[in-house]
Amino acid sequence: MATILKDTSRTFSEYLLIPRLTRKSQTADGVDLTTPLSAVESNQLPRFSINVPVVSACMQAVSGTKLSIALARSGGLSFIFCSQPIDEQAEMVRQVKMHKAGFVRSDTNTTPDAKLGEVIELMNRSGHSTVPVTSDGSATGKLLGLITDQDFWEFEDDLNNRVSQHMTPREEVIYGDDGISLRGANQLLHQHKKDCLPILDASGNLVALVFKKDYEDHQRHPMELLDDSKRLCVGAAINTHDYRERVPALIEAGADCLCFDSSDGFTEYQMEGMSWIRQQYGNQVVVGGGNVVSAEGFDYLVENHLVDFIKVGMGGGSICITREQKGIGRGQASALLDVVERRDEYFRDTGRYIPICSDGGLANDTQIVIALAMGADFVMMGRYFAMTEESPTPKTSINGQMYKPYWGEGTRRAQNWQRYSDGMSSRRMMFEEGVDAYVPLVGPLSEVMETTLYKLRSTMVNVGADSLSEFRERAILTMVSEQSVVEAGTSTVFQFSSNRELDRLD
Ligand code: IMP
Repeated sequence: MATILKDTSRTFSEYLLIPRLTRKSQTADGVDLTTPLSAVESNQLPRFSINVPVVSACMQAVSGTKLSIALARSGGLSFIFCSQPIDEQAEMVRQVKMHKAGFVRSDTNTTPDAKLGEVIELMNRSGHSTVPVTSDGSATGKLLGLITDQDFWEFEDDLNNRVSQHMTPREEVIYGDDGISLRGANQLLHQHKKDCLPILDASGNLVALVFKKDYEDHQRHPMELLDDSKRLCVGAAINTHDYRERVPALIEAGADCLCFDSSDGFTEYQMEGMSWIRQQYGNQVVVGGGNVVSAEGFDYLVENHLVDFIKVGMGGGSICITREQKGIGRGQASALLDVVERRDEYFRDTGRYIPICSDGGLANDTQIVIALAMGADFVMMGRYFAMTEESPTPKTSINGQMYKPYWGEGTRRAQNWQRYSDGMSSRRMMFEEGVDAYVPLVGPLSEVMETTLYKLRSTMVNVGADSLSEFRERAILTMVSEQSVVEAGTSTVFQFSSNRELDRLD
């Protein structure tokens, strides 16, 4: 007969933290959010850590180049998806590593002969208000001018006019020479009161753009995750099918951390892959495994001391239908608590600390806080990042509200059969385990994360914790009844919404 567990599968929203003593010396700004991503041997420092406990999911609709740059700049790490050809994934890693903070490759360009209407459409699509005008419309063509949304009146000017009639011509453009330092470029922006500075090579070709808003952004976000050469850090996903070719290409491209992307990591396939990586690269490479949802899965992956961190979660993702389709998975809170308990036992027994990542199903900031309090060292999220400006999908307007497409890796659209077919010979998807959806656009990643992390820091202070490890140790959680969830809401008062209609909030 099957074994029936005594506990019920629980989710994060069923728990609340109890406040503990806050010392007068504690402030939200003083809280340390650094967290390890590599196995930590007793009395040694981790080989790789991130500055905030947040990573982005190995998904096509999430971890593109732009998002990876933005997330590393905010202190976290992206895992660039592996459901794409090896050379394309390696190229994305390379682009993040090559990104010189402050110098941006221009991704919205036009030609002098383009029509004004076309540029307006381009600006609307990209969200950029400054567009370089180059000889061939490319990011590296000869610069002929700049056009911004201040150079025309959309409802007065003839939209058939040519860009050349409205642009600031090259002779009047303030630019920097290739090789200029970021500090020098920012000084030019300041001195000439400009928002954007093109950088040109000796032949007058466009090399990069420097924006005033990026300078301000950098001042606001000093948490950047940098490697020893001061390049941004980036992670990359791998699978159990082509790791012999993919891993070398990703390491060569400069990936700082790898992670098996599998819905079920409790497999001999993953152990084989992990062993191969260690045979080839020893401990030089930081590599995570998973996903598992039980202490038994944890025990299997830590055997032989191969894995650096372990990802927990099956079926909780916002776009996931695995539990419905296959009847397998576990409530995310129960899965996490089971694995963390075993991790702590393992640490007591062996002195080896294995960071745990809670992957998927985090529906709001509160749940991120609870996952970290329960013992996760960091969280992986898809939906959260898909909703930001920097996610790789285009903005779409639906009934006046802006959305972004977000689809699971288990959809026919993503065609990530490797993630779901570890134990099968079939090289195609027999059925879907994810859905294709839209999520509301919420704004720039740095702003969204600033709010989330401030809430986290503030709760940590309520619990009297100065670091994430102290937070885990000090956290006392209680389960909530349905009635206490009602009590926590605002159901007994009326609030005015922005359009002044009276809304009853449930
Ligand atoms: P979210 O943060 O709730 O959107 O969940 C993201 C996580 O869902 C990812 O990190 C994956 O672990 C998981 N995931 C991604 N695509 C699929 C899918 O198609 N089906 C099931 N789970 C998925």
